[in-house]
Amino acid sequence: MPKDSLSVVDNRTGLGYELPVTDGTIRAMDLRKIRTGEGDFGLMSYDPGFANTASTRSSITYVDGEKGILRYRGYPIEALAQNASYLETAYLVIFGKLPTAPQLANWERDIRHHTMLHTNIQNLVETFRYDAHPMSLFISSVASLATLYPDSREVTDPANRRLQVERIIAKVATIAAFAYRHNQGWPFNGPDDSLSYVGNFLNMMFKMTEVRYEPNPILERALNVLFVLHADHEQNAGTTAMRVIGSAQGDPYSALAGAAAALYGPLHGAANEAVLSQLEQIGSPDKVPAFIDRVKKGECRLMGFGHRVYKNYDPRCRIIKKTAEEVFRVTSRNVLLDVALELERIALDDDYFVSRKLYPNVDFYSGLIYRAMNLPASLFTVMFAVPRTCGWLAHWLEAFDDPEQKLMRPRQIYDGPEERAYVSIGAR
Ligand code: CMC
Repeated sequence: MPKDSLSVVDNRTGLGYELPVTDGTIRAMDLRKIRTGEGDFGLMSYDPGFANTASTRSSITYVDGEKGILRYRGYPIEALAQNASYLETAYLVIFGKLPTAPQLANWERDIRHHTMLHTNIQNLVETFRYDAHPMSLFISSVASLATLYPDSREVTDPANRRLQVERIIAKVATIAAFAYRHNQGWPFNGPDDSLSYVGNFLNMMFKMTEVRYEPNPILERALNVLFVLHADHEQNAGTTAMRVIGSAQGDPYSALAGAAAALYGPLHGAANEAVLSQLEQIGSPDKVPAFIDRVKKGECRLMGFGHRVYKNYDPRCRIIKKTAEEVFRVTSRNVLLDVALELERIALDDDYFVSRKLYPNVDFYSGLIYRAMNLPASLFTVMFAVPRTCGWLAHWLEAFDDPEQKLMRPRQIYDGPEERAYVSIGAR
């Protein structure tokens, strides 16, 4: 009997089966041969929330949730956050290797080439109410880009895919900045190509009447760290949405709008917005114990805590916490940081959180940095979506090169009614 296999006995029939085990998995399709007889569809696995299902092979991001390890293409997140620029990281995430100096220069030039937005999209942004949620505006604007670039439907052409990737990475930053300016009622700022990706993003958001905007180097560095940390996180809900939509071979703008829509939920990327409103509700460190009691009674969740994969401290959170301290040295220290620190201190010492392995995640401290930059909480998820764009695109590209990938189409267990006769409306 092969060692790398699983022996299964189907007690319904008494038949035995050998299922090969590769990379710690069995193939779900191998279950199909386990049948009770002619006419039986075959065994399926049932996995709501895909909690134990690998939907793809991927060589982009490695997460060990038990040990709290995160690596992009083998490089520890700590080293990248310390040393790499966002575009360097995006190149790594997308192409699998760190760029040489000329490769990085070309990549930066190619992205810069696409930073301007067509006036149609500017006009679209202006049609939204001033208080429209920036994520709705972001999702709609990204989806609308497909109307301007109909060539993006040529997804089977690798050169075309690369062109769209460069366009999208460039344009999401401009859309995000315009969403902020629209919300504030300020005129849009065009891109400044002499700045870094992050520096230019700050320029498009914050430039007022000065002739040339000079980003504060500490804020620019902090935002770069946040962008590196958010670049990818393997098969989360947003990335899975990107892969699912991409698997139907539609254009990448529509797929990315779908990924961003998944990110917009409070259990996913909008948790950063929810954390801030929770910290504001709590108000001061002395109110933390009462709030923790409410969480333990099941009245609400502690936002920014817990993760499907991390059962240990999220390594991104550790870096963000340190970065927040650096930012507060140039901006005023926010009392909400003390509330957050107290929440973390009490939660990490409380059996409710310890026994469930609930630790602070990436969203717990990031909002405090964005708030220190005077950004409204509604913009926080957009600040997540901009850097995550390179991860979404890397997964979208990877699927094209994977001969096993096909249209994503899960099965279901139907438990609705059996066939029944239509009843006319007057007889119901
Ligand atoms: N506060 C209080 N209790 C929690 C929390 C929390 N934040 N998270 C999980 N639990 C409890 C949950 O009630 C359950 O308890 P019990 O076993 O007694 O029913 C147990 O922990 C397991 O929870 P689960 O919902 O089965 O776990 P999950 O893997 O489905 O949920 C999660 C993961 C991220 C949705 C969840 O931890 C959560 O809702 N956290 C708050 C929202 C948040 O911070 N999301 C950001 C995630 S990281 C960034 C990103 O993905 O974009």
